[in-house]
Amino acid sequence: MKINDTKSKTVISKNVNAVIILMIISALLVRPVKAQNISLQESNHELFALSNLAGLVRAETKDNPTNWIELGKSWRDIDGNVIEAHGGGILQVGDTYFWYGENHRLGFGNQTGISCYSSKDLYHWENEGIVLPKVSMPDMFRDSGVVERPKVLFNAGTGKYVMWMHLDAGNYTYACAGVAVADNPNGKFRFLRAFRPITFDYGERMNNPRLKRFAEKEKGNTYRDMTLFQDDDGKAYTIYSAEDNASIYISLLNQDYTDVAKPSIIGKTWTIAIPNRFREAPAVCKSNGKYYLFTSATTGWASNAASYAIADSILGHWEIIGNPCSGAGSEFTFQSQSAFILPAPGKNDGSFIFMADWWNSSALNKSTYIWLPFKIGRYGEVVIENYDKWSLGIFDANPSSLAAPVVRLADSKDKHIIKWNPVASAAGYRIFKNGKLNGFSCSTEYEVSGLVPGTNNLFSVVACNINGVTSHASNLVGIRNGEAHNILLSDVAEENYTQGWGVLTIDHTDNGGPIVIAGRIFKRGIGTHANSEILYNLGGLYKQFTSWIGRNTEMPDGKVQFRVYGDGRLLYLGSMMTGRTPAQYIEIPVSGVFELKLVVTDGGDGDAYDDASWAEACASY
Ligand code: GAL
Repeated sequence: MKINDTKSKTVISKNVNAVIILMIISALLVRPVKAQNISLQESNHELFALSNLAGLVRAETKDNPTNWIELGKSWRDIDGNVIEAHGGGILQVGDTYFWYGENHRLGFGNQTGISCYSSKDLYHWENEGIVLPKVSMPDMFRDSGVVERPKVLFNAGTGKYVMWMHLDAGNYTYACAGVAVADNPNGKFRFLRAFRPITFDYGERMNNPRLKRFAEKEKGNTYRDMTLFQDDDGKAYTIYSAEDNASIYISLLNQDYTDVAKPSIIGKTWTIAIPNRFREAPAVCKSNGKYYLFTSATTGWASNAASYAIADSILGHWEIIGNPCSGAGSEFTFQSQSAFILPAPGKNDGSFIFMADWWNSSALNKSTYIWLPFKIGRYGEVVIENYDKWSLGIFDANPSSLAAPVVRLADSKDKHIIKWNPVASAAGYRIFKNGKLNGFSCSTEYEVSGLVPGTNNLFSVVACNINGVTSHASNLVGIRNGEAHNILLSDVAEENYTQGWGVLTIDHTDNGGPIVIAGRIFKRGIGTHANSEILYNLGGLYKQFTSWIGRNTEMPDGKVQFRVYGDGRLLYLGSMMTGRTPAQYIEIPVSGVFELKLVVTDGGDGDAYDDASWAEACASY
């Protein structure tokens, strides 16, 4: 078909400040030569020393230090060359994975054609060469045209490998599908034809002068970002952005997969899965009988928020759920755009790899890849987190509980870095600031930035695995930006407490009034009643515990005695105090103490109604 080339499509002119990343891939396990690690880097993906990684990755890499997927640098094949397989997809044939993608070695315009790489383990890739050279495309796509997002399926009926792709003019006005076939997964593919699969009148908007140049009435609806999906019953589908990217169409393919099923009948052989939302970069998977469709927004090479939708039947109703990504950078899909969803090797339990492109708009050949593991939850929930580095063993970590990390503040003049011990089976760690999610790390440290000077900030860490199992929160560490790193115990959740009467009160007494000791008012502090024990986890971080102690004058005669224990050792034994004893200031060294226990006894008078306060109780750094 011939489609007239007119004005530039906006997507190509969208200038994006995509971040340069690179990824490296290393040698095949079975041929452990020229091994290089998959390794992406820059910006928010910081590289961490192997020794700093979460336990799982550490265990996995001890035996073979090349088996991980790392986000942030260029990925290389086993010959050490940069992998050129953008917007790609993977087909598994026996025990081999074939990764097809756009080759941008020569820059814009995708001048080389479609690459193919093979691997047995997803870590080490061998270059199978250009399986569909640009020169074998029809004339109109050869020079300035583009061939994007190739996907390949095997058709058991014909024994052929069938590739679909998005073919376009350099200005994106052709917007059509291309189909090629091969006898082997590594080609060579023979180009069959370029066409627009569905012709549908979507109404008034079609007459919009801007859209008229795509000639959809005459030539069919535009076909741009696309994918293929083969269902368990052997039926296959193409999923693509149509109507100049306004809507996502899904169409059943014909028997040999080289065309859509004919005649095309909406609701029967094809559907508008996501109407009028301007989504692209579709990627589909199936789990537990449900279909999942991941898409991006249409901002050209610039990253944006991903979204996913779920359907019970692929040509049925698609319910949009929302952004599957979580944590820092999730609004930009961690600077990437979906390309393909690959079932995790050997898993049939909802474990997948989200394959995405980290585009570099100013040098497409420097674009690289973000692959992230995820597991679909019981209710269809998807949470994709931004691991710096992970290995396939991540999918095996399946404990029902994880130990809580113990956090400390690393000494550093210019930086606030919190560190914690690796938790067995953890795939990563969520970092909370003042109770709100602040970031995610798969190493055992986190640099805190953007603190407002003079503010109190409390950090805690929760370990998690890919199944969404999380540990209890760690101890809290306090950072008072610009000043000493002290924490008032009023700002910290105690780990546990028992007391003779009433409940523990923070910054006021049980009658709602302020903390008062022998007539002196304190704004902050902890109110308790004898006999009481209050436990705090200091994580071995603090040097000194200070507090004003004493009773109020409400029932002046009752006696109490204050004690402080550090890791079970008595650190302070106060004298008897009544409501008439003035507030007393105590300063107790607590260096290296993890468990701080604040005790108030009834002073031997057996009276559990005696109030007692730890006013301005503070752990100082
Ligand atoms: C993106 C699309 C890419 C490529 C690019 C060109 O929106 O996902 O595959 O077509 O636009 O600007």
